[in-house]
Amino acid sequence: MALIQGWLPPTRPNYHLILTFWQISYPIFGSMQWAVSWYGMGKTSVPSRLNLPGRVAWLTMEVPGFMTLLYHMRTMPALHGVEDLPWQNRVLAGLFVIHYIYRAILFPYLQPSMAPIHVAVWASALLFQVLNGTCLGSWLAAYGPVTQEEWASQSSTLQFVGGIAIFYLGLASNFFHDDELREIRRREQQRQDRLRSQGQAGSIEKHYQIPQAGLFKYMLYPHYLSEWVEWLGFWMAAGFSCVPARAFLLNEVAAMLPRAVNGKKWYAEKFGQEKISKKWAIIPGVW
Ligand SMILES: NC(=O)c1ccc[n+]([C@@H]2O[C@H](COP(=O)([O-])OP(=O)(O)OC[C@H]3O[C@@H](n4cnc5c(N)ncnc54)[C@H](OP(=O)(O)O)[C@@H]3O)[C@@H](O)[C@H]2O)c1
Repeated sequence: MALIQGWLPPTRPNYHLILTFWQISYPIFGSMQWAVSWYGMGKTSVPSRLNLPGRVAWLTMEVPGFMTLLYHMRTMPALHGVEDLPWQNRVLAGLFVIHYIYRAILFPYLQPSMAPIHVAVWASALLFQVLNGTCLGSWLAAYGPVTQEEWASQSSTLQFVGGIAIFYLGLASNFFHDDELREIRRREQQRQDRLRSQGQAGSIEKHYQIPQAGLFKYMLYPHYLSEWVEWLGFWMAAGFSCVPARAFLLNEVAAMLPRAVNGKKWYAEKFGQEKISKKWAIIPGVW
């Protein structure tokens, strides 16, 4: 059943319109961070009546992405006369869901604390998720390859398997580096617990240190870089002509690169340039 006739799920012309909007709007939106220093989330979150509690905001802005993708996978094949989707479509949808079960549900649950998120950042992330879920979901469910013959010219089995291996490498590295940030807060929690027994505890909210483990030795945002590796692997598996997978990766880079570069400035101001002088922001040798 269509939730919005012609749009959710989209007809083919509307899919192309949404995909064009997705490819143009978020690179512009993300690039605005080079000019505007305000970002109402994480380290740069400031008190505001328009702030939402971090965990709730994160969960509600991220979950709609994979729900949207699953909705398209469920409704579109029958509408387009596809009886059985090829295994490649199901595997790619599965990878997307695996990533977002971690990112949308486990991540806010595992974080020892999360700074508030401004409603404008929440709304922008929510729209990102719905557009991405619609474009990728429509491609996987009907508008991309839907037979083995079409897959034969889309991506070879070797390329598909190689892409999945890269995806999992990125996922593991993303989790590992996210966890190093969690470990900083867990250690601080233990320190606060000891202080509490002496009657002088504080809070772990917005407690920051310079992370050192793994690739943090060389850069400040290896978790971002790892996420890009994940979606590069996904794009490779889907075939390099898959426009929604390419748009997803490029839009992530547009949103996260300025955040990492501005984040390096934040670390320099908070801890001193000399403490981070040997670390890149995100791409060794470039930024
Ligand atoms: N931001 C995006 O646009 C975006 C887009 C797609 C995917 N992601 C992925 O989502 C994950 C989280 O992204 P994010 O932008 O929230 O990353 P982040 O700014 O590095 O923050 C991640 C978490 O770690 C805490 N944290 C950050 N730096 C810390 C430090 N130096 N010491 C102790 N704790 C620290 C933060 O706490 P506070 O909340 O208290 O600051 C937050 O809970 C990443 O794996 C990223 O790849 C992000």
